[in-house]
Amino acid sequence: MTTPETMLIYTSLSTQPLSVPALQALVRRARERNAAAGITGLLLYLDDAFLQVLEGRREAVHALYADIARDPRHTGAYVLLDTPIRQRSFGDWSMGYAGVTRADLAALPGLSDFFLRNDPLSALPPGLALALVRGFVEAGAGGRWLAEPAARGH
Ligand SMILES: Cc1cc2nc3c(=O)[nH]c(=O)nc-3n(C[C@H](O)[C@H](O)[C@H](O)COP(=O)(O)O)c2cc1C
Repeated sequence: MTTPETMLIYTSLSTQPLSVPALQALVRRARERNAAAGITGLLLYLDDAFLQVLEGRREAVHALYADIARDPRHTGAYVLLDTPIRQRSFGDWSMGYAGVTRADLAALPGLSDFFLRNDPLSALPPGLALALVRGFVEAGAGGRWLAEPAARGH
């Protein structure tokens, strides 16, 4: 049996609104480093908040999260979920970036109440964070959402 892997989901607030080029640079650099560390995942940026899913070996995920949490581009990093997984949800993505709106997320199964209430991402309960991951994998992975930061609407 292979070593169990971990999925960590956190949210944070950007310290200043990120331009598309700044977001592109962040994602490009994250992909390089994640590929080298065997990390995969998903990054959402919505209403000046981030939600990121990190998957990989437990130590690698925790070391990366410690690095990311210190990054001055955001603040208030808060772990929603940190759990062993049998299978990765974003195994093909060294860091998927999804250009989503609140309405897109409200359309995922089980998430409409939360996202239509306009609550901040930081208030997402762990069960709903999992529902979001599941909804993405079923509806969005490899599809219309996962893209380059500038690609939305093209
Ligand atoms: C919201 C957010 C998400 C990030 N995600 C990742 C990531 O998935 N992988 C990564 O290596 N760095 C990520 N970073 C960047 C790290 O915090 C860190 O700045 C970077 O990895 C260090 O790169 P450097 O060696 O070029 O300084 C993220 C930063 C922010 C603000």
